[in-house]
Amino acid sequence: KIVVLDFGSQYNQLITRRIRDFGIYSELMSHKTTAEELKKLNPKGIVFSGGPNSVYDDGAFSVDPEIFNLGIPVLGICYGMQLMAASLEGGAVEKADNSEYGHADIEVTDENAVMFAGTPKKQYVWMSHGDLVTKVPNGFKTVATSANCPITSMADDDRKFYGLQFHTEVQNTEFGTDILRHFAFDVCEAEANWSMDDFIDAQIADIREKVGDSKVLLGLSGGVDSSVVGVLLNKAIGDQLTCIFVDHGLLRKNEAQEVMDSLAGKFGLNIIKVDAQERFLSKLTGVSDPEQKRKIIGNEFIQVFNDEASKLKGIDFLAQGTLYTDVIESGTDTAQTIKSHHNVGGLPEDMQFSLIEPLRSLFKDEARELGEKMGMPYELVWRQPFPGPGLGIRVIGEITDEKLEIVRESDYILREEIKKAGLDKEIWQYFTVLPGIKSVGVMGDGRTYDYTVGIRAVTSIDGMTSDFARIPWDVLQDISVRIVNEVKQVNRIVYDVTSKPPSTIEWE
Ligand code: XMP
Repeated sequence: KIVVLDFGSQYNQLITRRIRDFGIYSELMSHKTTAEELKKLNPKGIVFSGGPNSVYDDGAFSVDPEIFNLGIPVLGICYGMQLMAASLEGGAVEKADNSEYGHADIEVTDENAVMFAGTPKKQYVWMSHGDLVTKVPNGFKTVATSANCPITSMADDDRKFYGLQFHTEVQNTEFGTDILRHFAFDVCEAEANWSMDDFIDAQIADIREKVGDSKVLLGLSGGVDSSVVGVLLNKAIGDQLTCIFVDHGLLRKNEAQEVMDSLAGKFGLNIIKVDAQERFLSKLTGVSDPEQKRKIIGNEFIQVFNDEASKLKGIDFLAQGTLYTDVIESGTDTAQTIKSHHNVGGLPEDMQFSLIEPLRSLFKDEARELGEKMGMPYELVWRQPFPGPGLGIRVIGEITDEKLEIVRESDYILREEIKKAGLDKEIWQYFTVLPGIKSVGVMGDGRTYDYTVGIRAVTSIDGMTSDFARIPWDVLQDISVRIVNEVKQVNRIVYDVTSKPPSTIEWE
């Protein structure tokens, strides 16, 4: 395995991802991980990720210096490279005259540079830094350079320490994948032997060991993640698993029925369905702040759980479909909170269960692969993602029954039309939102003053970044005509044409 130490860059988990795509297990760990702990894990290589700090800031994230004495190859990316230069004798880091963000042309100056093997002398990369290395540490040489960053890459082949000022993990670095591949295979000599089958076996063994004879409760949301967890747990511990499926009134049209038919029906999961619509909606009355809505829904969810669980005997564990992206975006040791994800945030402190989160290290598409490997049907595994807080964060601002109905019906039409056009596999996620604004229209001969419905449709790999989907005009037209005709109180449709970043996929 290759360990990535997390210094807080928004994109650090992509490094892990790229390495896993090589078939090498990789994990993101806290920068506080000590040399002693790493030694036990015995990784083939260590990557220091980028991060927002300057190495000379007060409280800047540092690293256990003993890590450099483990005899394990280290690759420092951006902040990681600066940290290497600052930690190792002879190196120096200074504030750059000009911060550099985005495209940069670099030149590989050492034709024997192992990290750049087989790539052209001139190539482009993606930079994002305010500091730069001004002196390489003893034993290092400069192997690549650019106009604004004379030491773009440094290498110490003897100790197998490498530094890259740019981000290899993002797509905007021309040969980023090749460079990482050189580190993984040529420098670390890691083997491509990690597969989803191993993961399933390891998880099942882990779950059995952790759970023993105890009972586990799982919240099914209707989405891919919790369904996959349900099937995995069912495989591991059978009827020690009880699922609670909360209908919080924020589900899509027909969703509750579909979930019950498939998971309880086909897969034989033991599911208790709770109708808690009233409970959620009354708590949400008058609340319009998105974070507060998320927290209320998250908390209420757990409360319903506690209520149901207390009726059951001897439950010790709560399982959740938390994915890697949820963990990262809810803030780790280093990352900033973007949104409090339903699966992660909002757990009350007096929670009575221990958590089981078997998908915690997986990206969405890996969770899907896991589902397929376990024999889950295509329609269930390839369901588009649906957030825990459901339609509650697609009605912008205060939630009312009337607004929920508009989102639910318009979303249903959108889904029907996307499917009819054969686009449901291409588009990663598509849904409607109700921004809550009204505008003037004309229907028949009369003036209308009704709601605007927004269509959001994105392509993405893991939800971390996305682009808006290029839905053909005539399909958009069909959707628009149908929604305006069939959903009461709607007279205008708009299409969201922003990517993530700078937007997020959901509007709240
Ligand atoms: P954002 O809006 O953060 O969404 O760009 C990224 C992906 O995550 C989904 N999402 C959630 N999933 N619990 C979840 O399980 C949540 O609280 C949550 N919020 C957003 C969103 O639908 C998109 O696929």
